[in-house]
Amino acid sequence: MLEIVDGDTEPTIQSLFDADPYRAASFTGRIEWGVGNDSSVKAAGILFDWSKTHLTDSLLSDFEALAEASDFAAHRSALLSGEVVNITEARAATHTAQRGLGSNADVEEANRLHNEMQKLVEAIHDGTTGVVKHLIHIGIGGSALGPAMAVDALTRDQKLVDVHVVSNIDGLALEQAFAACDPATTIIAVASKTFTTIETMTNASSALGWLASNGVQDATMRLVALTAAPEKAVEWGVDETRVLPFPASVGGRYSLWSTIGFPLAIAIGWDDFAAMLAGARAVDKHFTATDGRNNLPLRAAFADQYYTRVRGCQTRACFAYDERLSLLPDYLQQLEMESNGKRVTSRGEPVDGPTAPITWGGVGTDAQHAVFQLLHQGTHLIPVDFIASIAPGDNLDPAHHRILLTNCFAQAAALMAGGDMSGDGQDPARAFPGNRPSATMLCDDLDAATLGALIAFHEHRTFANAVLLGINPFDQFGVELGKKMANDIDSGNASYDASTQALLQAAGLRE
Ligand code: F6P
Repeated sequence: MLEIVDGDTEPTIQSLFDADPYRAASFTGRIEWGVGNDSSVKAAGILFDWSKTHLTDSLLSDFEALAEASDFAAHRSALLSGEVVNITEARAATHTAQRGLGSNADVEEANRLHNEMQKLVEAIHDGTTGVVKHLIHIGIGGSALGPAMAVDALTRDQKLVDVHVVSNIDGLALEQAFAACDPATTIIAVASKTFTTIETMTNASSALGWLASNGVQDATMRLVALTAAPEKAVEWGVDETRVLPFPASVGGRYSLWSTIGFPLAIAIGWDDFAAMLAGARAVDKHFTATDGRNNLPLRAAFADQYYTRVRGCQTRACFAYDERLSLLPDYLQQLEMESNGKRVTSRGEPVDGPTAPITWGGVGTDAQHAVFQLLHQGTHLIPVDFIASIAPGDNLDPAHHRILLTNCFAQAAALMAGGDMSGDGQDPARAFPGNRPSATMLCDDLDAATLGALIAFHEHRTFANAVLLGINPFDQFGVELGKKMANDIDSGNASYDASTQALLQAAGLRE
C-alpha cells in the first residue's frame, strides 16, 4: 500500500477543499479537558486541523487498514499496561504512568515518587531548606531539553525560583549560569537517568566546586539528584535525602513528567506541575479511547507516513507562533529523531523504507523572514506544523497577537493556495506553486495543562509512527558508538584514522 506516488498525479489540497465543503470540519478534531473548580468547570483544549494536507477519506481508510495490519491496538494496550515494549532493552515504557495511566503498580510507584518530589519542592518553596533563589539544572538530551523548554514556556510572567538549564560540556554554558547566580542561594540539580553521562558528571563536579570555592559550607547538601540510578548518585556524593529517583522504564526523552521535571516544579510550583500532568492525561485518555482516524495522534501519524513514505519527504518542520514555545522544535527533534531514526525493525530486520523525517523548525514570525522562502518556492516538499495559542502571552497592544496569528494562518493558506506575485503570471521567480501541506494546532491558551497536552500528543504521534513502521521507538543505540570513541580517544586507548589524528595534533591534544 505504501507505494511512492508521483505528487503531480495526486489531487491538489485545494481541489480537495473545492470538492468537499465540509473538509475543514471533517479533518479537524479537538481534545478537551476541564479547568476550574466544580462550580465553574470550563472546557479548555487544542484544535488539531489536518485539513490542509493531502489526506483524503480513502487514504485514511488505507492507513486505518495499515494500523490494523500493524496491530496498532495491541501495541497501544501493551504500552499503556506496562508490558515490555522496548524489546531491545527488555523494558516497559511507563511515561504515561507518571500522569496516571498505566498498570496499578506503575501508577502507584509514580505517585510515591511524585510525593517525595512534591515534599522537597514545597520545602524549598517554604524556606525549610534555607533560602533558595536560583537553581542550576545540569543534564543533557532528555534530561535537559524538556525542563529547558517547559521552564521557558511557562515562566514568562513569573517564576518562583530562577532556573538555569545547562547541558553542554562547553564550559561557557556553565560559566554563564554561574555569572547569573549567587552561590549562597543556589541549588544544583543533577539530572541523569544513568548518572554516568560524561557531560553531566563533569558539569556537576564543576558546579560543586563552584559552590565550595565560593564559601558554601554544606555544598553537597545543595545538590539534588534526579535519576533512575539512585545508588550511583549516592556513590557520587549526593546525600540520600536529596535523591529523587524515577523508574528505569521511563525513557530519557519521555521523562519530563518524572522527577526530571523537578526544576519545572521549582519554577512554577507544584499545582501547575500537576496541571501539566493532567493536560497530558487528557490526551492519554483520548489516545486510549479513540480508534482509527478519530484518534488524533494516530491521524497525525497517518499524515507523517504519507509524506515520508509515499511522497518521499525527508523532513518535517514545526513552527511555533508563540515566543514561549521557542524551544519546542528542539524538544520535538529529539523526541522524533532519537525515537524513530532507526534502520531496523523491532525484530532486527531492515526497514523497507524511510523512517523518521528530519525534524526541524523555529518560531514564527521570525522564521518567515529566514527559511520560509524555501518552504514556498524551494524544490523540497516539506510538511509543516503550525502551533499557536488563541490567548496571547503578552500584555501589549492586541495588535501584536493579532498580527502573530494572522501571519500564522496566512502562511498555511499561502503554502496551500500558491499564487502569483508578478501580476501577469509571466515571471516564474514570482510564482508560488502552492499545494504545500501544513497542519495547525491551535491552543485555547498556553498554560501548563495545554503544554502537557501538546507534548503528550507528540509522544503518542511518535509512538503511532513507530508502530506503523514496525520499529522500537524506545531505544537509542545510535548514540553509543560516538560516545565510546570519544572516551577511547580521551583515554588514549584508540588508534585513529589519519584525519582524526591530524585534527587531534592541530588542537594540541596529541604529540
Ligand atoms: O546520548 C543520548 C542519551 O542517552 C539520551 O537518550 C538521553 O536523554 C541523554 O543521553 C542523557 O542521558 P542521561 O539522562 O543518562 O544522562
